[in-house]
Amino acid sequence: MAPPLEPTHEELRARLSDMDARAEAGGGPERNKKQHEAGKLTARERIDLLLDAGSFVELDKFKQHRCNDFGMADKKIPGDGVVTGYGLVDGRRVFVFAQDFTVFGGSLSAAYAEKICKVMDLAVKTGAPVIGLNDSGGARIQEGVESLAGYADIFLRNTLTSGVVPQISAILGPCAGGAVYSPAITDFIFMVKDTSFMFVTGPDVIKTVTHEEVTKEALGGAMTHNGRSGVAHFAMDDEGACIRAIRELLSYLPLNNTEPPPVGACSDPLDRRDDVLRTLIPTNSNKPYEMKDVIRAAVDDRHFFEVHEHYARNIVVGFARIGGRPVGIVGNNPAMLAGCLDIDASLKAARFVRFCDCFNLPIVTFVDVPGFLPGTQQEYGGIIKHGAKLLYAYAEATVPKVTVITRKAYGGAYDVMSSKHIRGDINYAFPTAEIAVMGPDGAVNIIFRGELDRAKDAVAEKARLVADYREKFANPYKAAELGYVDEVIPPEELRPRLGTALDMLRNKRDRNPPRKHGNIPL
Ligand code: HXC
Repeated sequence: MAPPLEPTHEELRARLSDMDARAEAGGGPERNKKQHEAGKLTARERIDLLLDAGSFVELDKFKQHRCNDFGMADKKIPGDGVVTGYGLVDGRRVFVFAQDFTVFGGSLSAAYAEKICKVMDLAVKTGAPVIGLNDSGGARIQEGVESLAGYADIFLRNTLTSGVVPQISAILGPCAGGAVYSPAITDFIFMVKDTSFMFVTGPDVIKTVTHEEVTKEALGGAMTHNGRSGVAHFAMDDEGACIRAIRELLSYLPLNNTEPPPVGACSDPLDRRDDVLRTLIPTNSNKPYEMKDVIRAAVDDRHFFEVHEHYARNIVVGFARIGGRPVGIVGNNPAMLAGCLDIDASLKAARFVRFCDCFNLPIVTFVDVPGFLPGTQQEYGGIIKHGAKLLYAYAEATVPKVTVITRKAYGGAYDVMSSKHIRGDINYAFPTAEIAVMGPDGAVNIIFRGELDRAKDAVAEKARLVADYREKFANPYKAAELGYVDEVIPPEELRPRLGTALDMLRNKRDRNPPRKHGNIPL
């Protein structure tokens, strides 16, 4: 028998090229066309947009599933429906996985889960963020418990990675089951209007179980999760805008919890005074104004990268730079519900404060809060435990904390909003600040009830008492006298004062007592 012919180098190279081509084709031209027709990019196109040109290094390109049931033995595609690897965003290392809906609906097999776990493990070892581009029907039904095990392996890593490296999720298609729980543990979720959906169970299952009829959009579309459930943090118009926003978000974040956030160039002078601020806060404390105008006046190039824009709009959170250095910003917004704290606002801000504290981002807090929102809906919904989350988050945070009271700081909400008493490092107030247990009107109604009942002219008497209370308590000077406010500043000095405070605090070191972990009121 003639010995087998040894392959030529060309034949070996051709085999590799063939494998590469099969992996790169994903589910094939028909399914890729369908993906485009649905207004979506393919997994590889998304990675190309996300990473600096030519920087992507793929891992496990030829990995395949090991399932032989349900006719799966002859349905194997190299890569198995997820593209994984690493690359650069603005020259900085990130790890990425992109689920490919064109291969078995992007569903997760055991092999697919192993690919994701590999990049997550490398990300933790090397201290670089993980970005997940999700487009998946969840657990691969043909694989049964092996697929569930794969999800659990990812959930465990999501949890152990939390606070070590930033984890960012984009939802770029219909994501169901396990495909939504992993993103839910990550730090930020981006969705795209009209093409992305998140639900634990889809409309068909809901109809069978509860007889409710609901569309995919109403159940789990981008605006449902951005405006209503608060599950998602960003609702973008298209995938391009989504991926650009992820790149921008990364520009504010350190690569891991041991690094400071990256310093950018700053052409906006730190000593810039802003005359708009002289009159921006109405002296009539019942008049609304937009807190984002105050924030923009303070930050570099007036650029504020808002997070969770559509949810709990009575509080504003997001990132900006001051003197080129990234900061996290939290502000009550009097333009919405008078800026009061309710359940949703407390949850939104608490999670953001904890993120900043994980990743060494100083927190600048703007306060104009009449208190917690009263009512049975809030009490039955647990405002006590949810408000306590925000209190807890601020109290445990050891990053530099600078607070600016622009107007109202009333009651428990004064304590909560990064007050001096829970380790606010520098606490400023504008001359318009009113720091008291409650507003003058409510206070007079309670402490002078008897006098008002007895007064001949109750209206005039009340006006006199309100004016008196306002003069004595509804101002920043009592708090300044006690050292709870470090300085009452002219509003136009906001940016220079923030700049010097943050500069002074740059080397702040603070520690909480040793413990396994605290027990935040969940
Ligand atoms: C295997 C799947 C799949 C899955 C979709 N496909 N989901 N294959 N396992 N989970 C396949 C489909 O059979 C189809 O293959 C192709 O992907 C495209 O799916 P379509 O249904 O044609 O697409 P579309 O109409 O856009 O609907 C997308 C979808 C729907 C909404 C995601 O496919 C769907 O409801 N899938 C099932 C979702 C689900 O219940 N997953 C399990 C969740 S449980 P062909 O070859 O026909 O084109 C879970 C457990 C973990 O994840 C829980 C941990 C907490």
